[in-house]
Amino acid sequence: MKVLSVASEAFPLVKTGGLADVVGALPAALAPHGIATTTLLPGYPALGKVAKGAKVVHRWADLLGVEARLLATRLPGGEGADHPLLILDAPRLFAREGGLYDHPDDWQRFGAFSRAAADLASGVVKGFAFDVLHAHDWQAAMAPAYLRFAPGPGPVARSVMTVHNIAFQGRFPATVFDDLALPDDAFAVDGVEYYGGVGYLKAGLEAADAITTVSPTYAREIREGRFGMGLEGLIAARADRVSGIVNGIDPAIWNPDADAALPAPYSARAIGRRARNKRAVEKMFDLEPGDGPLFTVISRLTWQKGMDVLAWVLDDLVAMGGRLALLGSGDAALEQAFVAAAARHPGRIGVRIGYDEPLSHLLQGGADAILIPSRFEPCGLTQLYGLAYGCVPVVARTGGLADTVIDANEAALAAGVATGFQHGDVSADTLTETLRRVVAIHARPDQWCQIQKNGMRADFSWNTSGRRYAELYRSIAGEQ
Ligand code: ADP
Ligand code: GLC
Repeated sequence: MKVLSVASEAFPLVKTGGLADVVGALPAALAPHGIATTTLLPGYPALGKVAKGAKVVHRWADLLGVEARLLATRLPGGEGADHPLLILDAPRLFAREGGLYDHPDDWQRFGAFSRAAADLASGVVKGFAFDVLHAHDWQAAMAPAYLRFAPGPGPVARSVMTVHNIAFQGRFPATVFDDLALPDDAFAVDGVEYYGGVGYLKAGLEAADAITTVSPTYAREIREGRFGMGLEGLIAARADRVSGIVNGIDPAIWNPDADAALPAPYSARAIGRRARNKRAVEKMFDLEPGDGPLFTVISRLTWQKGMDVLAWVLDDLVAMGGRLALLGSGDAALEQAFVAAAARHPGRIGVRIGYDEPLSHLLQGGADAILIPSRFEPCGLTQLYGLAYGCVPVVARTGGLADTVIDANEAALAAGVATGFQHGDVSADTLTETLRRVVAIHARPDQWCQIQKNGMRADFSWNTSGRRYAELYRSIAGEQ
């Protein structure tokens, strides 16, 4: 079975968050289940190197108003193998500096990207045919809508719409509709119309044959107003088409026993070796040695991630004997709050503002615990990396965090199954109370080590989730 995976990011080529990790890992995760995955990405400057050796396999004279070429090459990674990659080379849309998103013509950039995907999946592009088009997030979400309202000559692929984060929806004014090359009847409640404008994610959710999100708990949460962000009604109405499939981790990239970023690689059996990595973290972040837990944060610094609440409790964290090494970037005010906290607590709090992939590995391999107090978290990957690395996750009980971490409450400790710590709400009081719980258990090395090992031995590979996607593809492909 052939699947076209359509997304705006894929590790290791272009990444702003977990979406890239998942899209980069999917081809290898699906291959054992008989699924051949081709990935389609926009031709960002970051893809220049791989695009260089690529073959031109199609040209558009007018793809939503711009000239474009389709380049065929390989996507490296995913358990060491590589897989087919298509790049939409449209310099007017994608060859620019600055961030990937928030350009005034995003409607056209990702409208054209989705139109190209739909062309590939409905017989417009000679030599290409797919059974299923798998669209990730709003940037690809118009593809299922095009397949439904303006398909090519066929055969037309079935479609899956995966929501990695429903907070990002791709909303544009109604005026863009005229330039989307859709029939008039697509501007409707069951089409692309959304609160009077055009909604890309909404359109994809409405048109796709199946909807998935990246954890079972988030799949339930987004049926409600607090999490659905305006789309809860649609999600609830299509509930029989919605499923939650939790992300896995790519063992070729996240394996503490074979990680080039660690001074001392280790396994669950030789967990003592982590001490060397911890010293490397302390050195990098100018931290004094200490007996209390060394916490880390590796995150976008945003409201979603609860980083404002964390910033409020840092004095308490230090007063309890904790230390913090933080790596992140995001909201300017939050960046400043963490930098200020580091200045208040030299030797106890160290902050790196920026994005640094190898350093994120070192932190997972050296810190004692990773803090993830998210207000919502569709899946979350850093807690999975934490589990695999014996860096105990301390998480809010929401979305994928609720589904992947077993709280060290008395019952779980007694049964020997705890893998981390969960807290119910995201408030300063609750977080402080949870930090206190972490500090207390960290002071009992046997219990702490048991929690680390439980996490390291848990299975967060793609085995199960890869099979679930494959089953989903087959079930919708069999429906026609
Ligand atoms: P989200 O996609 O919502 O940001 P995830 O937990 O799913 O959250 O994925 C975040 C990914 O980005 C992980 O691979 C994490 O290690 C990485 N990451 C986040 N911030 C940084 C940073 N400052 N430096 C390096 N990697 C980071
Ligand atoms: C989004 C979500 C995150 C999830 C990632 C990959 O960025 O915020 O929770 O892990 O997508 O699915």
